[in-house]
Amino acid sequence: MVVGNFKAWQKVLSDAKRLESASLTRFFVEDELRAKKMTHSVSDGKSEIIVDFSKQLIDDQALQNLLALAAEAGIIERFAEMCDGKIVNTTENQPALHTALRADAKTSIRIGGENAVTQVHDELAKVKKFVDATRREKRFKNLVNIGIGGSDLGPRLINDVLSNVGATDFRCFFVANIDSSEINAVLAQCSPEETLFVVCSKSFGTAETLANARLARKWLAQGLNLDLASRKLADHFVVVTANPTKAEESGVVAANTFKIWPWVGGRYSIASAMSLVPTIAFGFAAFEEFLSGMRSIDEQMRSTKPEQNIALILGLIDALNFGTARYPSLAVVPYVSALRLLPNYLQQLVMESNGKSVRLDGTEVSVKTSPVVWGGVGTNAQHAFMQMLHQGSQTAAVDFIGFAHVPNTDAAMHDDLTANMLAQASALAFGRGSQEAKNDPTANHRRMPGNRPSTVMIGAELSPRSLGAIVAIYEHRVFVHGVVAQINSFDQWGVELGKVLAGEIAAQIGGDGSSYSTPHDSSTRSLVSWYLSRRKPEK
Ligand code: F6P
Repeated sequence: MVVGNFKAWQKVLSDAKRLESASLTRFFVEDELRAKKMTHSVSDGKSEIIVDFSKQLIDDQALQNLLALAAEAGIIERFAEMCDGKIVNTTENQPALHTALRADAKTSIRIGGENAVTQVHDELAKVKKFVDATRREKRFKNLVNIGIGGSDLGPRLINDVLSNVGATDFRCFFVANIDSSEINAVLAQCSPEETLFVVCSKSFGTAETLANARLARKWLAQGLNLDLASRKLADHFVVVTANPTKAEESGVVAANTFKIWPWVGGRYSIASAMSLVPTIAFGFAAFEEFLSGMRSIDEQMRSTKPEQNIALILGLIDALNFGTARYPSLAVVPYVSALRLLPNYLQQLVMESNGKSVRLDGTEVSVKTSPVVWGGVGTNAQHAFMQMLHQGSQTAAVDFIGFAHVPNTDAAMHDDLTANMLAQASALAFGRGSQEAKNDPTANHRRMPGNRPSTVMIGAELSPRSLGAIVAIYEHRVFVHGVVAQINSFDQWGVELGKVLAGEIAAQIGGDGSSYSTPHDSSTRSLVSWYLSRRKPEK
């Protein structure tokens, strides 16, 4: 039962206040070893990532108090409980076992009398068999993922990275929105004979996914000159779901169905069969590498001492930065185009997980929870929003993410790319005074205040492994901040009402308008009327 804030939280709040007058420049002058002390690494022998948080507005005292908070909240113990299958998603009476998706086959986690890890590995073996056969047979050239949220962003993100570091004969497409122009643009590039649709939906109740799957089926039937009820259509469909019964009822008949489990959240499902499309395109070995990268962070989170535990420390810094309302948002700026979707992916991971305002016991939170997560790829960001971060009247905490080596890129241009990332982090932290130009009337406008926080994360090489590690670091950061705020990071009740209302409004719009009687608010009512008077229904 939650009974109030952790005692150490008071100290963290005091630190946030005290650090309002702190100066990053002074921190670095006073401690030559600061960068060294505040840079940690994680390596599994095959990939390496360093994380430098020395440009966060934090000092030793604040760090010690955050670590004391971690100890008091029992964060590592809570993490171990989560990994061991304890029901941490209390409102849905479920464990949150995404770490089981990449656990070593020898691990045992008993859920409902069965070993969850055995189930995962059995399913992985099925996925591998299907992937190998699909690659060998070369029947399909086009792979179309139909899914939204976690059933879209994860496979898309992996696909972007694998496309950058490897080659494939498949053409991969991703369709998420209920805006039919999206799927139509994809179908226009595909021939029905050579197209495999992978319909990903944990619940199989998601309106967007069902609508797109129905449209795909119709297109396929027309293109192949088959009856809509023909069983032959099933060969062009794969389903990934935790609800196979609902999938069957929905009419999406698939020759192959892969499982995910109720104990994996949609936004935590990237390490499951949900990532089938990139796994077919680039091979099972690449997906296994991705899983290994995630596992290396799971292991570090569980067993590395707190002072060197990257995800723990970053999660604690999130609690300091966002939990105390020091900064309203987190800007994620990867300096590699292959990670252009990372801000979107993290938007769902962080904001859907921690965008809560009641604690586990239903009482109101007193620690701020999710930051707004946004961002974009560097250097493009420098020509768009970085101005605000450097000189705006409010700023954001920034995560810069880069790599020492990105395969298949021009080495000299890559050096420039990295130089830009390091320059941005340095400019944000240390700024530039206006002394050089005292008589210049524009001096104040040119002044760069500095003292703006960022973390720099650099991987040795962009690879499925390093992507896995980065994603897992963020997953566990979210967990840490969630434990500090004492919330349930694994449900998402806030998305439900919109879905229900959309269903009601769609039913009214879809009718002749005469059934338009639900007592919605007057604004919605008049917007619907206006819409009905202007729309052009299909003839
Ligand atoms: O937006 C709510 C949500 O349930 C996400 O959590 C999930 O990733 C997405 O919708 C898609 O859900 P499903 O995989 O069940 O179709």
